Amino acid sequence: MSTRDVVLLGSTGSVGTQAIDVVRAAPDRFRVVGIGAGGGRVDLLARQALELGVEVVAVAQATAAQDLQLAFYAAAQARGFSAGQFAVPKILAGPDALTELAAWPCDVVLNAMTGSVGLAPTLAALEAGRTLALANKESLVAGGPLVTPYRDQIVPVDSEHSALAQCLRGGARGEVAKLVLTASGGPFRGRTDLRGITPAQALAHPTWDMGPVVTINSATLVNKGLELIEAQLLFDVPYDRIDVVVHPQSVVHSMVEFIDGSTLAQASPPDMRLPIALGLGWPERVAGAAAPVDWTQPASWTFEPLDEAVFGAVALCRRAGTTGGTAPAALNAANEVCVQAFLDGRLDFAAIVDTVAQVVAEHPLRERPTLVEVLDVEKWARSRASELTQKDPT
Ligand SMILES: NC(=O)c1ccc[n+]([C@@H]2O[C@H](COP(=O)([O-])OP(=O)(O)OC[C@H]3O[C@@H](n4cnc5c(N)ncnc54)[C@H](OP(=O)(O)O)[C@@H]3O)[C@@H](O)[C@H]2O)c1
Repeated sequence: MSTRDVVLLGSTGSVGTQAIDVVRAAPDRFRVVGIGAGGGRVDLLARQALELGVEVVAVAQATAAQDLQLAFYAAAQARGFSAGQFAVPKILAGPDALTELAAWPCDVVLNAMTGSVGLAPTLAALEAGRTLALANKESLVAGGPLVTPYRDQIVPVDSEHSALAQCLRGGARGEVAKLVLTASGGPFRGRTDLRGITPAQALAHPTWDMGPVVTINSATLVNKGLELIEAQLLFDVPYDRIDVVVHPQSVVHSMVEFIDGSTLAQASPPDMRLPIALGLGWPERVAGAAAPVDWTQPASWTFEPLDEAVFGAVALCRRAGTTGGTAPAALNAANEVCVQAFLDGRLDFAAIVDTVAQVVAEHPLRERPTLVEVLDVEKWARSRASELTQKDPT
């Protein structure tokens, strides 16, 4: 097995830092050549760059470039390095920096940025012919038909889609009857009224420790809806053959049902390092990437239907995905604004999905959009969602 050169987009986040854990544990398999992030945590980014000895570092905030350089020298000093004992990486800065980094020479790009701002880097990596380990589902959802021509280059990192990809190795494509996505149900499973929920309550996910946006999306179940669209786009299975089932223990990450009545499930304790390692090493597994299920301990795995009357997000995403074109892009963009409005106290938790639905219904649909049209629709949806969330929560 040769060592793979890796570029990490979003290296300072939850998935990004866990990807670095994976690389640290398997230095014979992976070498990080470039990292990039938004610019909110330059000290961490600089420490990562020094530790990994990368060739290039990218920051989206142009104004963070100087701070990054200073932080890099400070990190070198803190580790007792003198000049000549470390190489200063090239720094790319500005709104296109991560897109440039995504096309940097390497074997695999991990896109672990948050939000549809990841779309241009996703397309740049794919157009450059790289294997794309994709955690940033928003770029696939927003880009839809722009990204799917490259689906053979994409390896999913979302635990559910990694599970589906693993289960799909168990039969021929024509033998697949259904994809079954599992959902933890989030912190409000079993509730019949979602009004008045606070950000602190919504940020406390029962099984996964993730970044703030994906955690809120998990609480509204928008995350599961985005994953439904992601599954359709990645595996090209029609929406009426993709189910969602609630599995609170988050040990079975998803399942594939075959035409003979057999169902294959992928199970492992909730730990993103497993799908990240598989995303970087695909199709080969990385030994010891995560702990397996402990079969010496008693355990119960339960499955229950999703309460769609309370959690309308999956049905909304199913409708938007079926409409296609720019509908998923509008949905995702509006949702990003609504999540921020909720975190800022301008929108009630229960109003997030309804507000997103209103923006999707009003948006000027393009059936076969170009990248420019997708970006225009996103801009429109963000602006409309901002208007709708200006008022105080009721
Ligand atoms: N966390 C999980 O367990 C998990 C599981 C499955 C899928 N995912 C998906 O993986 C993606 C990342 O999630 P996360 O939980 O790791 O998020 P996170 O902890 O919030 O980290 C986001 C990363 O993206 C960077 N970033 C944010 N805005 C950026 C911009 N405008 N330009 C460039 N970089 C930017 C951040 O940099 P700064 O540090 O500079 O802000 C950070 O490195 C999301 O699409 C999420 O849905 C996450």
